[in-house]
Amino acid sequence: MLRRQILTGVGAAALALAAVPALAQETVKVGLILPMTGPSASTGRQIEAGARLWMAQHGDMVAGKKIQLIIKDDTGAADQSKRLATELVVNDKVAVLGGFGLTPLALSVGPVATQAKVPAVIMAAGTSTIVATSPYFVRTSFTLPQNTAPMAQWSAANGIKTVVTLVSDYGPGLDSEKAFKAEFEAKGGKVIESLRAPLATPEFAAFLQKAKDLKPDALFLFVPSGQGASLMKQVNERELAKAGIKIIGTGDVTDDDQLNGMGDALIGMITSHNYSAAHDSPENKAYVSAFLKATNNMRPNFMSVGGYDGMALIYKALDKTKGDTDGAKLLDAMKGVSWTSPRGPMSIDATTRDITQNVYIREVKKVDGQLYNVEFATIANVKGSN
Ligand code: PHB
Repeated sequence: MLRRQILTGVGAAALALAAVPALAQETVKVGLILPMTGPSASTGRQIEAGARLWMAQHGDMVAGKKIQLIIKDDTGAADQSKRLATELVVNDKVAVLGGFGLTPLALSVGPVATQAKVPAVIMAAGTSTIVATSPYFVRTSFTLPQNTAPMAQWSAANGIKTVVTLVSDYGPGLDSEKAFKAEFEAKGGKVIESLRAPLATPEFAAFLQKAKDLKPDALFLFVPSGQGASLMKQVNERELAKAGIKIIGTGDVTDDDQLNGMGDALIGMITSHNYSAAHDSPENKAYVSAFLKATNNMRPNFMSVGGYDGMALIYKALDKTKGDTDGAKLLDAMKGVSWTSPRGPMSIDATTRDITQNVYIREVKKVDGQLYNVEFATIANVKGSN
């Protein structure tokens, strides 16, 4: 009798306790920290549009909870990202953080996510080591080693023997430089010079002249999203291609957000990357047409799918926890999830929390009067980090 009374008492108390958070958490807040102004504003615009499109297509209710998206502009400054993450956690009580347009911005948020036990979905930044800096990080963008190694393999297999690399001098650029050299030299090629330009420099002339003087078979390029147009203008002006130097790179350089304005001189340029607006699948055709419609004709780039798939991951995790927003449970629910994105098949590695996805080799071509990265080879299921 006594035992039954105690059990009943415990049961009632547990129910009462459970009922409180359920009521208090009818709304689940997702806080995206993005560069909406400043040099990386296109990344913010693309990710916000991707995230909003996911919600427009799938509704704002998941597992009985209403999803509220909060967008904060960090202007591309890491101290702002950290301040905004703290505010979102403490004042807004967000269940999930996301966004992070550049590597230093993501790194600054890691300690906040760890301390608050709030999952933080990296939708843009691509330095391989970021995810390992917080147990609450998970990534839906890409990593530079993932996107670069296939370009090195293709180069070695297609008659390129010597390469000069030119990258932005910070995390993802150094990742890209290292991955290209390791993979290319393992396949018998030689990187004869590794050049690094300051991040966000508008001036590449000295580096390009040096590359031209070295007369490599190819020049490999990486700059982050938003800076490809300025770099390629100067590459074209220096006439490296006419000097017999093949121009190759990651798809960050031939970014769909800017590619169409870069000019016909880019036709024939080969890059490797995880997403192209020209990706030939029913999912992507539907995505591109809905995105164009929702944004007054902004072409989606690889950042946009980071945002779209980031929201997909958050929805799938909430579905799995049946709406429970406990940070550790949500994060656990994100591990090992796989689905078909507009970019192709993707999954979240259960051990590393990094993204596994296809990487494509593409050639810039004119299609219906517009420049696109047209994919012609697929390297399936490449891991983001080990
Ligand atoms: C990064 O800072 O991690 C980053 C940003 C834009 C890119 C690639 C990497 O296109």
